[in-house]
Amino acid sequence: MDNVKIPSHVGIIMDGNGRWAEAKGKNRSYGHKFGAKNVDRIVSHAFKSGVKSLTLYAFSAENWARPKAEVDELMRLLKEYFKKFIKKVVSSDVRLRVIGGRDELSADLIKVITDGEEKSKDNKTNNLNIALNYGGRQEIARVVNNLIKEGKEITDQTILSGLDTADSGEVDLIIRTGGELRLSNFLLYQGAYSELYFTDVLWPDFDEIELDKALESFSNRKRRFGKV
Ligand code: FPP
Repeated sequence: MDNVKIPSHVGIIMDGNGRWAEAKGKNRSYGHKFGAKNVDRIVSHAFKSGVKSLTLYAFSAENWARPKAEVDELMRLLKEYFKKFIKKVVSSDVRLRVIGGRDELSADLIKVITDGEEKSKDNKTNNLNIALNYGGRQEIARVVNNLIKEGKEITDQTILSGLDTADSGEVDLIIRTGGELRLSNFLLYQGAYSELYFTDVLWPDFDEIELDKALESFSNRKRRFGKV
């Protein structure tokens, strides 16, 4: 894509796996499997297009309320994804961070996550943030509590630099697939001035062409950040 202004930090709410599977007469976990496959192609296309940082909403702090079998399958897919990531990490120069609360995660998942973060910590070209057991409100509360504990002043700047995505900067564009028009507790603070892009396309069908459409739409927006 020529002459397109590329956002530096993009967040994606990957919605619609369940409906995609149900439309094919399959169970929801089948949709998550294809959703996980789609993560690879969108991550590589985004970075190839010039996006510096990507934050993907994989599992919200509220998603634990889903049936156990579905939660188990999502956790299994995530573990598989992180293991695959670790294998590719040296050649890709992508730094992985998993954002969200760790306390509720299983010990073996935490191990795979910390391994991926550790092995990729010196990678500089791109940031890949996976939001897992994540909630924007919970993140803000955690940052403010840490600032209080450290005796620091609570300002816009100190909050921004304490956020889980601090190294990726504020989020320029948030994409939500699957037709719903809401943020669902995703990147609330760093998304204050995000451009929003909603599409009816379900996540497993959201391909390179669909991502290009979102990037083009961003490129045509006039960002004023509250000014005139
Ligand atoms: C929303 O679809 C999707 C999720 C809650 C999980 C997203 C997870 C993945 C794409 C797979 C694993 C992720 C990685 C990073 C490997 P939904 O289940 O709410 O679908 P519905 O709205 O159609 O019910």
